[in-house]
Amino acid sequence: MKRFTSETLREMFLEFFREKGHAVIPSASLIPENDPTVLFTTAGMHPLVPYLLGEKHPAGNRLCDVQKCVRTGDIDEVGDSSHCTFFEMLGNWSLGDYFKKEMIPWSFEFLTSEKYLGIPADDIAVTCFAGDGDCPRDEESAAIWEKCGIKKNHIFYLPKSGNWWGPAGTTGPCGPDTEMHIIRNRAEADKLGPFDFEKAPAGTFLEIWNDVFMQYNKNAEGKFEPIKQKNVDTGMGLERTLCILCGKDSVYETDVFEKTIEKIESLTGKKYSEGGEVTRAFRVVLDHIRTATFMLGDPKGVVPSNTDQGYILRRIIRRAVRFGRNIGLPQGSLKEVALTVIEKYSPVYPELAQNRARIEEELEKEELKFSKTLQQGLREFEKATANLPAGGEIDGLTAFHLYDTYGFPVEITGEMARERGFTVDVKGYSAAYAEHQEKSRAGSEQKFACGLADHKEETTRLHTATHLLHAALKIVCSPDVEQKGSNITEERLRFDFNFPRKLTPEEVAEVERLVNEQIALNVPVVMKEMSLEEAKAQGFTGLFENKYGERVKTYTIGEFSKEICGGPHAKSTGELGVFKIAKQENVSAGIKRIKAVLEPR
Ligand code: ALA
Repeated sequence: MKRFTSETLREMFLEFFREKGHAVIPSASLIPENDPTVLFTTAGMHPLVPYLLGEKHPAGNRLCDVQKCVRTGDIDEVGDSSHCTFFEMLGNWSLGDYFKKEMIPWSFEFLTSEKYLGIPADDIAVTCFAGDGDCPRDEESAAIWEKCGIKKNHIFYLPKSGNWWGPAGTTGPCGPDTEMHIIRNRAEADKLGPFDFEKAPAGTFLEIWNDVFMQYNKNAEGKFEPIKQKNVDTGMGLERTLCILCGKDSVYETDVFEKTIEKIESLTGKKYSEGGEVTRAFRVVLDHIRTATFMLGDPKGVVPSNTDQGYILRRIIRRAVRFGRNIGLPQGSLKEVALTVIEKYSPVYPELAQNRARIEEELEKEELKFSKTLQQGLREFEKATANLPAGGEIDGLTAFHLYDTYGFPVEITGEMARERGFTVDVKGYSAAYAEHQEKSRAGSEQKFACGLADHKEETTRLHTATHLLHAALKIVCSPDVEQKGSNITEERLRFDFNFPRKLTPEEVAEVERLVNEQIALNVPVVMKEMSLEEAKAQGFTGLFENKYGERVKTYTIGEFSKEICGGPHAKSTGELGVFKIAKQENVSAGIKRIKAVLEPR
């Protein structure tokens, strides 16, 4: 039997699609650009939304990649055999190029050919869209699968809840999908009729790949309208596929975690394979340290904080500390564990080695901070729950006190409560929080729904204003100023950059003056596509340039600004209105944040 590793599987997938005329594009950042609806990149398609909606991609209309993704919706499940908060998604895309009759035979070939995964066709079941008032049954896909060699009784139909994919809960490109599953229990699989897929006992099938046929746009009224450009969007989870190919029981037993397990075993004297709570604690530490390493090592470098991505990172690190304690992981060793992650992944994600100092430093700081209050917080928790009846509720103020004084994210309190059969009054917690803080964290979870890059006029104008701000900061503060992060909503832009201190009122006024001068001049915004080399040679800036691969879009605003960027932008600066810096914030020692708005003239 062929031996698969994460390295060979990544390479094999990309090679397969390279041979089919696809450009291999690099993984985008874990932090979505200009998308306020979601905190992290959750699928390979996410950074490609503008292109799925019709914008031309510089690398062409056949793309493939391995995308780093974070999904934290199921964070409390991490510790079982399959959940991870970080994962890599192998994916390929047709941007208005090929469709079902090419994609399905390719999926079949990749899964079954001896040259690739070599899975027997009889071990594969597929599901197709069952059809409803919005879209007919996908008999076309089913027929193609059958022609490829999938047994008819292994072709199933599922409704929208199972065989439809699009960014969750929002408008945007979507469509029926067809999912491929490995049959783990043939006797059970063979009992099922074509509409009974979901009646199979757990463990009968294991999903391996998803081909989405995007042919609709879900509009603001929730209606599905056919789109001009039909796309294909596929996603295959690297760890899960490896687990299947290597015949392992858990994703944690694949090669990606091997060295990290050894490290934790040597630091704790415990064995991963012990089972029960020990294995669970190992998995939480394995997963969370890997996720934290990727977040800290991302080109857009998230650091622990009390808002947005920083809060999730904080929660993940603190959860790792808590579970690490349970297996005797010595204080201060998270960064040693992280080193094994950096070593394993740097050949594929060089940013981890490049940002090693930041990863180690921030992990150490956060671990120390939480360790100081952990014991005491645990005692407080015991005290608060000592007299609760079975099934009782921890009140909101206590939960807030545990957060505010002892650094226990409310989700960790919630999890500890559940472990003992209690609940937490999350509403009460939020009210207490809102009272003490500027803004409540409640509702932040809704940001996990996958969102869309926004092409509204307001955001488009703010996007262009961001380029002007960037250029003005280079003039007023330092030519070394670089974009470290950007986030745009309809109301405001947010721009993070490297600078040791806040700007003085004079500097703020000067930045505003420079930007408004460019707006008054009504300078055209000129887009030009070129190779990355050429763009660099012509002095275009672009921190996230390698995300776009070989061909890039450049935006020039007169002599003032030259940036590599994915767009969208205003046609000329006169459209922008009056630029005003609304707020400055401290992100971390070397990183400052500006929030700015465009006011009507
Ligand atoms: N975007 C699709 C998924 O995440 C392929 O399953």
